[in-house]
Amino acid sequence: MSAPRPRPAILRIAPYRQGKSSLEGIAQPIKLSSNESPLGPSPTAIEAYRALSDTLFRYPEGNQRELRNAIAKVFSLDADKIVCGNGSDELIQLVIRAYVEPGDEVIASEFSFAMCTTHALAQGAKVVIAPEQPAMRIDVDAILARLTARTRLVAIATPNNPCGTYLPFAELERLHAALPDDVLLLVDGAYGDYVTATDYSSGFDLVERNDNVVVTRTFSKLYGLAGLRIGWIYAPPGVVDALQRIRTPFNANAAALAAATEAVLDTAHAAKVREHNARWLDIFTSELSDMGLAVVPSVANFVLVRFPATPYDAAAADAYLKAHGIIARPVAAGGPENHLRITIGLGHENRTLLSTLREFIRGV
Ligand SMILES: Cc1ncc(COP(=O)(O)O)c(C=O)c1O
Repeated sequence: MSAPRPRPAILRIAPYRQGKSSLEGIAQPIKLSSNESPLGPSPTAIEAYRALSDTLFRYPEGNQRELRNAIAKVFSLDADKIVCGNGSDELIQLVIRAYVEPGDEVIASEFSFAMCTTHALAQGAKVVIAPEQPAMRIDVDAILARLTARTRLVAIATPNNPCGTYLPFAELERLHAALPDDVLLLVDGAYGDYVTATDYSSGFDLVERNDNVVVTRTFSKLYGLAGLRIGWIYAPPGVVDALQRIRTPFNANAAALAAATEAVLDTAHAAKVREHNARWLDIFTSELSDMGLAVVPSVANFVLVRFPATPYDAAAADAYLKAHGIIARPVAAGGPENHLRITIGLGHENRTLLSTLREFIRGV
């Protein structure tokens, strides 16, 4: 019997593997596997979400004006260059759909968001990976060495994932300066809100000055709204125009728009989350190093930890943590071997994680 068949390009895509969120027999595991914000969203965002329940029969505001204005105000940006979407995920997909054709090449830096590869493959494009190992950071020269006449888009994540390292301002400028004008540079800043390093560049100013740079941001991380699915892109007018042509009219839902507007305006909550994260990044780094574990220097809300050889390797550590009710994230095949990625949680969760790992390393 014959059945409808997906396009061959679709069957070359490996399905996304979600982080684990439950452990059998443990009612409330400590979940440090998906880089969510343990402090949750701003109370005013929760209030806005609840208030929306009275008007669920209405379509959302399709122009996303309130949220775009709120983002523009807080980040000192131009609201006309902002488009919101169903997670930054969706905006990355829209950009790739709008700019990448079958046979084109997309250069994805190794630790850019996996969905860039998925969407490029779905377009029938060839994905060329620019390695970030062994240094665990974006390698501008490795990207530039892979440029060809067919390259249409270059995707980087800064900070990257799962390492949490970033591309300093001067290197981002160097990368952009070396790209032809018709190659789009996609800067995924999902973790940009956490960065306190002074030589970090969000890329927003590159968007202001050029027609071939876009920056994606999310409310899923620092703003604690992962469950609502809301993100945004800062893009030059030509890209905004393309996205407006293909986005669905109500791609950002009403609850997400209302909550995100309050979330971004509550700069005191954002500062509190940033401060909690920076404090625990330091503690994680020093305590894990003290245990003899190698920690990649992270500026995001997670750390990537390298484990010693068997019997103290990452798989054994993961099993030990799970047995003690803690879910970390083993790095997927092809990523840095023998590493676990651990999200920074609440203070008591972090303490439990650190003491459990110490027990593991001592061979208890
Ligand atoms: C590097 C990176 N980019 C993008 C995303 C997607 O974020 P969103 O929830 O906005 O779709 C994630 C989510 O984990 C991520 O790690």
